[in-house]
Amino acid sequence: MLLTKNKRLRQVFALAETSNFLFFKLLFKGQRGGAREYPGVIYREYLARAGKDIWRSASIFELFPELAEKPPRIVLEHIPGQGIHDAVDELAYLALATKAMAPSMVFEIGTFRGRTALNFALNSPSSARILTLDLPLQGADTGHLGSADLALTQRRQIGREYEGKDVSNKIEQLFGDSRLFDFSPYEGMADIVFIDGGHTYDIARSDTMNALRVCRPGGIILWHDFGNYGVYADVIRAVLDCVPADEVYQIDATQLALYRKPA
Ligand SMILES: C[S@@+](CC[C@H](N)C(=O)[O-])C[C@H]1O[C@@H](n2cnc3c(N)ncnc32)[C@H](O)[C@@H]1O
Repeated sequence: MLLTKNKRLRQVFALAETSNFLFFKLLFKGQRGGAREYPGVIYREYLARAGKDIWRSASIFELFPELAEKPPRIVLEHIPGQGIHDAVDELAYLALATKAMAPSMVFEIGTFRGRTALNFALNSPSSARILTLDLPLQGADTGHLGSADLALTQRRQIGREYEGKDVSNKIEQLFGDSRLFDFSPYEGMADIVFIDGGHTYDIARSDTMNALRVCRPGGIILWHDFGNYGVYADVIRAVLDCVPADEVYQIDATQLALYRKPA
């Protein structure tokens, strides 16, 4: 994968690296969205088999060997994404990581409708706090968002998926722009930080730097939308500018990446 700011160059490289007959078949069928995602899907599948390229890939059992020794039961509410990626395997991996970490605190950046916050709540101990941050409902500065992020922000319905659920008492909704938010009260407290907010380089980098502060030693940081060539490609550059590339693990062939902060 070519990590460059230049989107055109990245796309040409993506085609050279991953395209095949099926890619062109998608285009001929008029599936432009599917064709756009195809190089990323192929690359992540490749990396899951190769194990290492710029970053690593590992199975959830390699990342959390304790899961193989004592397999947990997970609970999922597989809610339709309504504009966000809604792969059930990614929710399952988040749930398994939550079981393995048995967190007292999860800090999420990017609530949208509360789907992942709900699934963290469903799989964490009863005393866990799930903090989830999204832009203010009124008067948020959205000028810094890319067009895909802006479209999502306009369609969010904060808390809709967790309100009224039996675990909603664990979830604390926070409002603020993650670039300006005061993370200091949570410094070193979170067992899991999940980054799924804005996807431009600047936001993803700022969120990663703040996650490194909020995460406790031995805790984990998870990113969504990692391993893409497309509009969210800058997440990769931002992450790898903050943490060593060979300590970042793509989970299997998904868009989830994991880093464990040294204990
Ligand atoms: C992809 S959605 C989150 C999806 C959610 N984690 C899930 O899977 O259910 C991204 C969310 O991040 C929020 N967001 C974007 N930029 C942000 C920022 N700078 N600070 C806080 N939230 C932001 C958007 O409003 C949007 O609701």
